[in-house]
Parts: sequence; structure tokens; C-alpha cells
Amino acid sequence: MNQSYSNLGRSSFGSKFGIIAATAGSAVGLGNIWRFPYIAGENGGGAFIIIYVAFIMLIGIPAMMCELSIGRATQKNPFGAFKELRPNGKWYLVGCMGIAAVFFINSFYSVVAGWTLFYLFEALTNQFHAKDAGQIEAVFSSFQESGWIPILCSLLFVVITAVVVSSGVKKGIERWSKILMPILLLFIVIMAVRSMTLPNAGEGLAFLFKPDFSKITSKSILDALGQAFFSLSIGMGVLITYGSYINKGENLAQTAVSVSIADTLIAILSGVAIFPAVFSFGISPTSGPDLVFLALPNIFSQMTGGYFFSVVFFILLIIAALTSTISILEVLVVCVSEELGINRVKSTVISATVVGIFAVLCSLSITKIPELSMFGLSLFDLFDFVSSNIILTLDGTLMIIFVAWVAGKKWIQNELSSNGLYKVNYIKPFMLIIKFIVPAAIILVFLQSVGIFKF
Ligand code: PHE
Repeated sequence: MNQSYSNLGRSSFGSKFGIIAATAGSAVGLGNIWRFPYIAGENGGGAFIIIYVAFIMLIGIPAMMCELSIGRATQKNPFGAFKELRPNGKWYLVGCMGIAAVFFINSFYSVVAGWTLFYLFEALTNQFHAKDAGQIEAVFSSFQESGWIPILCSLLFVVITAVVVSSGVKKGIERWSKILMPILLLFIVIMAVRSMTLPNAGEGLAFLFKPDFSKITSKSILDALGQAFFSLSIGMGVLITYGSYINKGENLAQTAVSVSIADTLIAILSGVAIFPAVFSFGISPTSGPDLVFLALPNIFSQMTGGYFFSVVFFILLIIAALTSTISILEVLVVCVSEELGINRVKSTVISATVVGIFAVLCSLSITKIPELSMFGLSLFDLFDFVSSNIILTLDGTLMIIFVAWVAGKKWIQNELSSNGLYKVNYIKPFMLIIKFIVPAAIILVFLQSVGIFKF
């Protein structure tokens, strides 16, 4: 019997579509609908998007293939995976770094996920109806000023995530992802079409698709790289963990390509849904993290069936966020339970409690306690920036370097071909990319962003 199936205690995904839906469930989330538009907005739109898509293709897809391979080959959590592959080296620290990222990412992510819960409540009680842009902005600011409502909402989100994770992944995540991801896609398309028919929509579309490279700064390039890692869930061990649930017979390259295409498509469609509304209602494209929450309710307030669409949209946003927070918490829970030998439920309670405390601090840093800041950034902004632009990027790159230089060509070829089942005729360019091009590109981006190097 194949090695992978001997580990009977471990759950695994049941079907090809299930694997793609669950992995895409992790990838597609607030990163696409909330983070991508606001980061693109801050970096001037079109030109940023071209750089972003180039990073997804050149770096994101190979990185995803490497990370999934590490998980599937070892059938272990990120820490255990590196321990198994290199028992005597220090490579397990790469796994640890990803696990540390869970705290940073989950904390600001749960805060924004909490906002989506509040907005669903507002949608259900028809709060956007016939409101103008100023009134919609006031909904957001009074929610933030209350201080405790955002905290309760984000804690509620942590609890919902913990409930799903504690009851196991397979039936829950896989089944729901298969149903919900296609519906999410459909709704984003509807929103995008509605937004494109708003007055002034052309201005938003031009912002999005007419590249103006003069707007690109060295920070934009790092932002694009960080967003690519964040959006594809690379560099945190999520893909090692999900890879460990994938059967040996699956084609990992195909999974990585399908997930990356779906993820990029949804990010761009979110931009199409949001920017025409931004220009049409006079919202600043550089509004930052509030952007989606200020832009979309304006469409709902005016469109026919706005009530229905706003309710459904926020439900879907919650689901998109939930399938991502589940994957984030899963990394920590599996690690704690496998390494400390405690059961899933206990491990979930411990993990969710710690993560919940981080989320509360993060929320307080932008509402009631602005002193919770470092380097001139609130904890929220700091965690957002540091985790994607630095930790995920660095950790993801180390994983690629591990596969390229330590595990080697034979190992990755074997994994990508599923032991000879699939042809890997792209192996030569693939090795060239992961050995040289990706590390060089990432070093250049880092040097450029700290000002040592100028393009
Ligand atoms: N990819 C998720 C999103 O776009 C966020 C995420 C990052 C999830 C890292 C897991 C790990 O929303």
C-alpha cells in the first residue's frame, strides 16, 4: 500500500473538485474582495495590477506547487513536514515561521471578518436603503467609534471558525466549499455588471485597466508581491496542511494553476465591482481598508433588489472569509494537536483563545486605543503589512529555496508527476524558475523597497 494511505488517522479530501474548491476556499477570501481593491487603489490601479498578475504567474504558481508538494509528500503539519524531510537541519524553523504568521494574519483578518458580520446585520435591517455616500460613511465610522461592537463581531467570527475547525475539515469544508465557491463567483459577476452600468463607470474601469506606470513606487512592487503571496495563501503552511490532505494520485500542478486562475479572476472581478462605484459615488480610491465597506453599500442603496443583493453579498463575503479563516486556524490546530499529542477539540480551544486575544488588541488599535501602535502604524496596519509583505513572502521564498536547492529536482519531479503518473515536461523551466528567477526577483524587490537598489 502506498505510504500516504498508511496514515489512516488523517483526513483527506474526497474528490478533485473538492480539493480545488477547498484550496480555492482558502485562497479566495477577504484578500480578494477587501484587500486587493484597496491595495490596488493605493498604488494607482492598472499598472499595479499588471505587476500583480505577473507575480502570480511567475512566482505564485510555482510557489504553490512547491508548498503543496511538501505537504503531500510528508502528510504532516508544517513543522512536522520539515522535521521529516530534514530531521537534522534547521529547516523546521521555516514551518515555525509560518505558524507564527497565523497569529498576525488571523488577528487583523478576524477584525475585518467581524466587520462583514456587522454589515450583514445592517443589510438585513435594510440600513443602506436610499442613503447617500456621506450617510453610508457615517454607518462605518459610528460602528468603529463604538469600539466594543467591532470587538464582539470579530470574537464571534473567531468562535464560528473554531466551531467548524473543531469538528474536522473533511465533510464541513469540502462539502460547503463545493457549493459556495461557484455561487460566490456568480454573485461577484452580477455585482461587477451592475457596477459597470453606473454613471461614470468608465472612470473606474480606466483606473483599473489603463496602466499608468508613473504611479508605481518601490513600495508598490513589494505590495504587489506581498498581495500575491497573501491572496494565494502561500508562505504560512496552509498549503502544506491542505497538501497533506490530498491523495497521491492528484495532479498538484493542475490544482495550483486552477486555484490561481480562480483567485486572480475573483480579485479582478472585485475590482470591477468596486472601482466604478468608487468613482461614481465620489469615494477616494485611496481610502485604505475601509474602501469596500464604503463603496459597495452605495450600489445596494440604489439598485433594484438592493436589499436582496446586499444580504446575499454579505453572506457570501462572510463565507469567503470563513473558508479562509478556517484554513488559517487549521494550521495552528493541527500543529498543536499533532506535536503536543492532544485532541482536536482541546487544540482548537487553546489556539482560538490565543488568536482571539490578538484579534481584540488589533481591533482596539484602530478604535479605542491608538497607542497600540509601532513604527507609526496601528497594530492592525502593522500586522497587515508585516505579515504579507515580509513574513509570508520570506517564508514562501524559503519554502521554494528548500524545494529547489535542498530537496532537489528528483524529489519535486516525483511529487509533481505523482510517482510517474503525470508527465512533467515543464520540469526544466520550472527548476530554472524556482532555483534562480524567483529568489533573484524577490531579493531585488526587497533591496528596491529598502532603497538599496533602484530600477
Ligand atoms: N488567501 C486568503 C485571502 O485572500 C488569506 C490567507 C492568507 C489565508 C494566508 C491563509 C493564509 O483572503
